[in-house]
Amino acid sequence: MTERTRLPEQGETWPRLQERLGALGANDVDWRNKKSAVYVFHPGDDVISVAKEAYALYQSENALGPAAFPSLRQMEEDVVGIALDLLHCPEEGPETGAGNMTSGGTESIILAVKSCRDAAAAKGMDVRGASIVLPRTAHLAFDKAAHYLGLEIRRIEVTSDFLADPDAMRAAIDERTLMLVGSAPCFPYGLVDPIPAIAEVAREHDIWLHVDACVGGYLNPFAEREGVAIPEWDFRVEGVRTISADLHKYGYAAKGASTILHRSAEQHRHQLFQGDDWPAGAMTTPTVAGTRPGGAIASAWAVLHYLGVEGYREKTRRILEARRRITQGVEALGMRVYGDPRLALMAFGPAEGDDLSIFGVWKGMHDRGWFSGVVQAPAGIHLMLSPSHDEVADTYLKDLGESVAEAREQGGKQEAAPTRYA
Ligand SMILES: Cc1ncc(COP(=O)(O)O)c(C=O)c1O
Repeated sequence: MTERTRLPEQGETWPRLQERLGALGANDVDWRNKKSAVYVFHPGDDVISVAKEAYALYQSENALGPAAFPSLRQMEEDVVGIALDLLHCPEEGPETGAGNMTSGGTESIILAVKSCRDAAAAKGMDVRGASIVLPRTAHLAFDKAAHYLGLEIRRIEVTSDFLADPDAMRAAIDERTLMLVGSAPCFPYGLVDPIPAIAEVAREHDIWLHVDACVGGYLNPFAEREGVAIPEWDFRVEGVRTISADLHKYGYAAKGASTILHRSAEQHRHQLFQGDDWPAGAMTTPTVAGTRPGGAIASAWAVLHYLGVEGYREKTRRILEARRRITQGVEALGMRVYGDPRLALMAFGPAEGDDLSIFGVWKGMHDRGWFSGVVQAPAGIHLMLSPSHDEVADTYLKDLGESVAEAREQGGKQEAAPTRYA
């Protein structure tokens, strides 16, 4: 048994602690050298420094108290305004949008599901055990939301192109279905689901459609400006009611920052929690969290303004170039990319009929200092690319070639999938 850590009697000096903190990271993945393609988004040292300094300026402030910190209220309003604009929410009429910053994609998704559930309950529906119909590729955060909120999850098989199948989703709906989901893009394969076709199903049955753009919310708008062809995926599509879009992914903000966006303020009302039966007076909060870190809000606000449209376009071009080169290299090694990813995520594995152990290849890459996720059924290596990966794409491919050769020498023996989050 490891010994429990205890609070030291005497405090230590900051220089000593700084040294210890550095040492604690000795075995961490080397993301500063761009060798991680998951968890960290490396947009360049200047952006990281803006995110960090802005965070530090507001690290003690608390967005639970907007009356005490009008600064944070203004920054959150600015960020939500920017997001609604990027995601084509109309500026006039009854549906001009509303939203909040949250701690991350999972919280944004939980709030979208809660809003949808409470809107249905307000119309008199018995929502206990009501269902969410979603493609198999949608993020597990929906299962978490359903688990917390007492709902049922119905995962529907995707097509042979790994895309949501709107007809199969239609067939899974019944009178107790609350929500449909599409991803833009999905995490496993980086593919944008056919949102317009899913929206048609949602409109036919008057069901809430959530688009999970946790990955794409701050990437797709710039990829589209760079000429990347993807199906319409945002508020341009009638029937899309909420969108989750993460600032701490391709918004390049410090961790702890996402946005939940509603088509209308009327919908957003159902996101709020209100209570007053305790001695400290009434409390209304729009998010799961009570205390909300000012630093995360300031960091996102600063990075958005630091990069601007031009900055994000430049980062996006670099990601697209890295993906293009890695795709070419993967195919040159005789492997195949799953589906037709056009953004920053991709997964690849052996060609049909090839018994190459792709998890053996993953292990070879891991031994060479690279860190990324995997997919299963079919088995593959998963990459979540950052702008800075354009600097290391060639080294990655060289190491990949060696790892493939090694795995082939070991004769197609399939390694077990490495466990995520273990
Ligand atoms: C498509 C998608 N949705 C939701 C999430 C959950 O986001 P978070 O880890 O910020 O809670 C992720 C995380 O990678 C994601 O890729």
